Amino acid sequence: AAMTSGAARKDIDVPDYEERLEARLGKSREMMRVVLNKAKSNPKRVALAEGTDEKMIRAAYQIQEQGIAEPILLGDAETIRTTAEMLGLEFDPEIVDPAVDNHEEYGDRLHELRQRKGITRSEAGELISRDSNYFGSVMVEQGDADALLTGLTHHYPSALRPPLQVIGTAEDADYAAGVYMLTFKNRVIFAADTTVNLDPTADVLAEVTKHTASLARRFNVEPRAAMLSYSNFGSVENEGTRKPRQAVDILHDDPEVDFPVDGEMQADTAVVEEILDGTYDFTELEEPANVLIFPNLEAGNIGYKLLQRLGGAEAIGPMLVGMDKPVHVLQRGDEVKDIVNLAGVAVVDAQEE
Ligand code: ACO
Repeated sequence: AAMTSGAARKDIDVPDYEERLEARLGKSREMMRVVLNKAKSNPKRVALAEGTDEKMIRAAYQIQEQGIAEPILLGDAETIRTTAEMLGLEFDPEIVDPAVDNHEEYGDRLHELRQRKGITRSEAGELISRDSNYFGSVMVEQGDADALLTGLTHHYPSALRPPLQVIGTAEDADYAAGVYMLTFKNRVIFAADTTVNLDPTADVLAEVTKHTASLARRFNVEPRAAMLSYSNFGSVENEGTRKPRQAVDILHDDPEVDFPVDGEMQADTAVVEEILDGTYDFTELEEPANVLIFPNLEAGNIGYKLLQRLGGAEAIGPMLVGMDKPVHVLQRGDEVKDIVNLAGVAVVDAQEE
């Protein structure tokens, strides 16, 4: 019986599964192709903070080979060269060693930026040589690299803090946020904030929505945003449900907002056309939302991981939005392809500087 059902599965489920997988990967490849082609048209210098890490070296090789960016590996030159050789990678990447290169200059700059935040000159020197997140952040702040990728070997907050302190947010932004692009067979979703703001206020939710909508446009996707909650348009009334509603009010009053946004609404309302067209036909959303704004970090982080693991979405991210210069903080365990994709996103950001 086991054999029969196994054979039946092979006949029916497997091709179907493979077809679905191919369709989904096709969609995400198509989305990334837009970005990677844009990156290749004018590649920029991308610093990889954890330059001695094998995955970073492999990613640097691919990034350089494909002409997506000019990678700069940060770390001990000897270690990087030996590792590249061991991996059988024939290339001669640019290497900058924080223990040796630009040490004084970057230490001075870090001190200048942080002297009124409790950092002495000798502490600044220590941070520059010991933590390549500080080194890389100053490098980008000074324009010696156009973008920074980090986070592979750090806990997310400790890799994120140096760029927030040194590079900070863009002129028109007060908050950074982490966005995942999730591709399914027939649709693409941008989910935010999945990695930064623990308990966002209505103002933060509104700002994150705007950043996420502009990011969607970089991928040639016209944004339709939903402010998510466990309540549908006032069906539950309390502080938690008021917050996303206020964020929608802020966006509706903002003359810069040129995309439909509505809420608060439940997740199924946001993505199921029949619900939007039926009970809630008054919403600004004529079609299901493709920008999903979660009410807090727990919901956002848990939500995107469930979509990825159970919903079968291909996830690209976390893309950090709202920063003054392109920085992306990878997650531990990310793969070479994640690094390459984020390098492409960073280059496209840098092109618009
Ligand atoms: N946007 C922009 N800048 C910010 C933000 C924000 N949301 N939050 C803090 N900053 C700035 C501050 O203004 C400050 O700058 P300043 O020193 O020049 O004034 C700097 O960052 C450091 O701020 P602190 O208050 O010292 O840092 P804090 O301890 O609050 O850390 C952090 C900020 C790291 C973003 C924190 O809020 C955090 O840990 N967030 C959650 C990160 C996380 O755990 N994500 C989930 C894990 S990701 C995964 O899936 C594995």
